[in-house]
Amino acid sequence: MRLSALLLRLSRLLLPLAIVATVYLYLYPAFQHCAFPDATDGKQAPFRLLTLADPQLEGDSSLPDPHAPLLPSVDALWNALEQGTGHEQGYERLLISLRTHGRRLLSHDIPHLIKSYRKQLDLWGNDRYLAHIYRLVHWWSAPTHVAVLGDLLGSQWISDAEFERRTDRFWSTVFASGKKVDSNITELASAEVLGEDELWKHRIIAVAGNHDIGYAGDITRERVARFENAYGSLNWEVRFALNSSDDSPDLRLAILNSMNLDAPAYDDDLRAESLGFLKQRLHQDHTSSTTATIVLTHIPLYKDSGVCTDGPFVDYFPEDYGGGIKEQNHLSYNTSESILNALVGEGRRDSKALILNGHDHEGCQVYHSLIWPDTSIEAEEERQWKAYPYNSPEGAVRRNPSFVGVREVTVRSMMGDFDGNAGLVSAWWDDAASEWKFDYASCEAGVQHIWWAVHVIDLVTLGIGIAGLLVLALESLAARSKVDLRKKTV
Ligand SMILES: *[C@@H]1O[C@H](CO)[C@@H](O)[C@H](O)[C@H]1NC(C)=O
Ligand SMILES: *[C@@H]1O[C@H](CO)[C@@H](O)[C@H](O)[C@H]1NC(C)=O
Ligand SMILES: *[C@@H]1O[C@H](CO)[C@@H](O)[C@H](O)[C@H]1NC(C)=O
Repeated sequence: MRLSALLLRLSRLLLPLAIVATVYLYLYPAFQHCAFPDATDGKQAPFRLLTLADPQLEGDSSLPDPHAPLLPSVDALWNALEQGTGHEQGYERLLISLRTHGRRLLSHDIPHLIKSYRKQLDLWGNDRYLAHIYRLVHWWSAPTHVAVLGDLLGSQWISDAEFERRTDRFWSTVFASGKKVDSNITELASAEVLGEDELWKHRIIAVAGNHDIGYAGDITRERVARFENAYGSLNWEVRFALNSSDDSPDLRLAILNSMNLDAPAYDDDLRAESLGFLKQRLHQDHTSSTTATIVLTHIPLYKDSGVCTDGPFVDYFPEDYGGGIKEQNHLSYNTSESILNALVGEGRRDSKALILNGHDHEGCQVYHSLIWPDTSIEAEEERQWKAYPYNSPEGAVRRNPSFVGVREVTVRSMMGDFDGNAGLVSAWWDDAASEWKFDYASCEAGVQHIWWAVHVIDLVTLGIGIAGLLVLALESLAARSKVDLRKKTV
């Protein structure tokens, strides 16, 4: 068989696989029936929030030093060559250094270089994989709003230059059609009618995470300033009325920086800003029973170990580093209690609320319910909050409207290792029950290797096909010149 025929046959053989794989990758939300949950009456919910958690863009802190020479042993070898010539015994020395540097080149420099390029390729592909998830799920599911629930970046300990590079990748590649929420919106605590401003579906409501600004023990004004400048405010709210009538039910989104609600903090003034927001906006604001609140924050609320993947855990910096919080899996019980009381406790037992966060990567759903731990003392001050797995039998009992409670969804990470998850949150006003209702669904792209594999198969199929055509052209050219030659000799 001729080479061209072989190549073309191979590419024809690969073609169906390439097509099927590509169609799947570019329509996966359709194949997986990803959709925002419908309202109780079967209609589309008027508020549909696409939530993405912990993209954690990595960068040069995970790359080898960019200023170091590419292949140091080649430089060393070059020096040895220059010094060696004209010397007595120069030849022998040259041989020795050739051997040592040569060995180092093969055993260290070249593998190192390959590793570095591989890491850069990984980052390049990862940005595009995340962008694929956002673009596709956004297009398929038609959200009205979008939120990223913290840890936009992979580390808070990066230089301003690196912060800028990652921010540029965030806005120009990963969320290419996304827009920052303008400060004139975040400063106003504005209220508008749901659906009137179409731009909301492109605004990215960015929540700060510990890898963006640090935990309480290391949040500084500088890190807060660069985050707010690049992604929007840390603490703010916006309200959406169902319709334009004066007594319309409304939905309040509260974006809350949960990284310094607990103490000790490095900067107490910054902590006071977050506590002040929690107190003034969530505790003291008088909301009617037709207002529901969706809290968007990063760190999950307190729960006993075993309820979600992460159990309670707090670590502190040593005293000579300020002794502040270095790491925490959950907010403390007290802080969680304060948030829950603000939402549905303290005389607003009729209010509805939903808490959305990220941080733990695996994802989890719980129902926080007010209980009497000791049923023999049914005094109000003895009540405590307890979290139950949302879909457990106990959770189902606790979700009964006769109890007071709040649903918390910890959204699974959108990183490839966690299957590129996207969360779909619906909220609607249930006229019959005369209250806001929420529901959550998720949509998974699959690990990033699938994205890579599909594109590699496409490229290989295309490459072999083109090579086959080129070889075919060459073959027919050669055949024609042979005929020409024969004609001439005749
Ligand atoms: C906010 O500012 C932007 C420009 O920075 C402007 O286009 C927009 O109309 C302003 N929105 C409000 C509500 O003032
Ligand atoms: C606004 O929505 C509420 C709740 O669905 C409804 O009762 C009311 O009639 C609506 N008002 C208008 C003007 O559409
Ligand atoms: C939590 O709050 C209670 C009462 O409000 C207080 O006694 C306790 O010390 C607080 N715990 C922490 C760790 O702040």
